[in-house]
Amino acid sequence: MDWGLANRMHRLFSPSSGNSVMLAVDHGYFMGPTHHLEDARATIAPLLPHADAVALTRGILRRCVDPTTSTPVVLRVSGGVTVLKEDLSDEAITTSMEEAARLNVSAVALSVFVGAPHEHESLVHLGELVDGGEEYGIPVMAITAVGKELEKRDQRYLALACRVSAELGAHLVKTYYCDGFAKVVEACPVPIVVAGGPKLDSDEAALTLARDAIDAGAHGIDMGRNIWQSDHPVPMLKALRAIVHDRATVREALAVLEREKGRPRAVPPTPAA
Ligand code: R5P
Repeated sequence: MDWGLANRMHRLFSPSSGNSVMLAVDHGYFMGPTHHLEDARATIAPLLPHADAVALTRGILRRCVDPTTSTPVVLRVSGGVTVLKEDLSDEAITTSMEEAARLNVSAVALSVFVGAPHEHESLVHLGELVDGGEEYGIPVMAITAVGKELEKRDQRYLALACRVSAELGAHLVKTYYCDGFAKVVEACPVPIVVAGGPKLDSDEAALTLARDAIDAGAHGIDMGRNIWQSDHPVPMLKALRAIVHDRATVREALAVLEREKGRPRAVPPTPAA
């Protein structure tokens, strides 16, 4: 692996645990103003210092994130459809590798739609993006099973989607947890991080999902709604860190959550004009 690409990969994963807690706030690229992400700046600012990386689009990065941040950026570069369309798989690459380099990001991300009407195009886009990523030293994260593909997320489907992504050159893969997840991890030769999906019934359920994913061999999480739609986003993020980095049990993570709830919320610094 080229030095620049290896260096960017190491920015994303903790040297001590080997894992990463990524904060996903890219939902607006096809869902618009998602609940609790309407004011993206206000949602992101208190969470950013506690995340190992933030996953978002260039528009939200430029408008809603202070450029003094030291949190690595995973830039979503695919899009082109919205939830108003029946077929969400008709995506293209919407942001160039030159733009990703200009924004000094640590990785770029695109959705791949295995089994969907535009499977072929999305997989070709992945291959082309990897060519660009190798040229610029920027890792590429393939995101499997977004949107309607989520309904298919059993072990056989996710193992296929993750393996195909790695075969086409993805440097890391984001997918969803499922029963038998260890088999998905075993068959994928690059690190896998796990998304949370729609808000679960409780914080405990989301912590359990993270615990199970790490136990099955995931290298971390790239979670959104189960953090910022929680009643306690920062405590929730800290509790997830305990699981991902410190191998905390769900019970220990719940204790972190309760302890952090009692702490006064730090006011994020006002961005420079
Ligand atoms: C899809 O909208 C994005 O790739 C999200 O980043 C991904 O689904 C993770 O977010 P969540 O944990 O809310 O599912």
